[in-house]
Amino acid sequence: MTTSFYDKVAKKFGGYAFSTGHVDYRSEYPNRDPEEIFKEKLIGLASKNKKALDAGCGDGKFAFQIAKYFSSITGIDTSKELLKIARQKQKIYKVKNITFTFQDAHKTSFFDKSFDIIFSRRGPTPFSEFRRVLKPGGYFIGINIGEKDCQEIKEIFGRGQGYKEWNTSRLEKEKQGLKDAGFKVIFAQDYFYDEYYTSFEDFDLFLQGVPIFEDFDSKKDRKLLEEYVVKFKTDKGIRFPRHRVVLVGKKI
Ligand SMILES: C[S@@+](CC[C@H](N)C(=O)[O-])C[C@H]1O[C@@H](n2cnc3c(N)ncnc32)[C@H](O)[C@@H]1O
Repeated sequence: MTTSFYDKVAKKFGGYAFSTGHVDYRSEYPNRDPEEIFKEKLIGLASKNKKALDAGCGDGKFAFQIAKYFSSITGIDTSKELLKIARQKQKIYKVKNITFTFQDAHKTSFFDKSFDIIFSRRGPTPFSEFRRVLKPGGYFIGINIGEKDCQEIKEIFGRGQGYKEWNTSRLEKEKQGLKDAGFKVIFAQDYFYDEYYTSFEDFDLFLQGVPIFEDFDSKKDRKLLEEYVVKFKTDKGIRFPRHRVVLVGKKI
């Protein structure tokens, strides 16, 4: 993930692309939506006297949704453009208890034991730094991209996020990372589900705004995209298999 990619997307779409709601698609979950599980776990641990850190807050879309459950949220990101949009949105939404600040999650300037909860929604997960800035008994809650996420399109394109590199279990790696950093793993689960994009144009627009192919080019990649669409077109739309991991760790 490069910051310049997110800066580029922010300028193009006026936010993190997927927040803009221009893409027509739906999801089908064999069990439950991992995003719901992540949010439920986070809200379950939240309270009005707790301070949270949103690691990789992007344009703040998610932080605005859950700010009311916390005393305060500090949103950090390394994309200046997305932070700018987050601050603009904050003025419109009039949410007072969030501070958006430029910080690299790997090496923040926060004091030790500053936060009760750290969450990361598809953002960075430097567990040692998280442990340092968490209060004793504090929690990490994360949702991230699994190694099998949209593997099929990456095979056709011969490139993409983690292509040929993501060959071990993300869940196991994160679990180990949590343990090594001094967390107890409270919850860890893989989630597989399908998204269905209504049209070629929707699918194309979606790919322009996500880091699956940071260099995605509608014109240059058209043939490859058509090849994928022919293979994955169904009555429900263009099938796009997803993989997410949800983890909760407690600082010990
Ligand atoms: C996939 S986006 C998710 C944004 C937001 N959490 C959401 O759910 O919409 C990942 C975000 O993490 C940020 N990011 C990546 N590496 C980071 C780092 N080391 N420190 C802080 N933010 C980072 C990116 O700039 C980007 O905004």
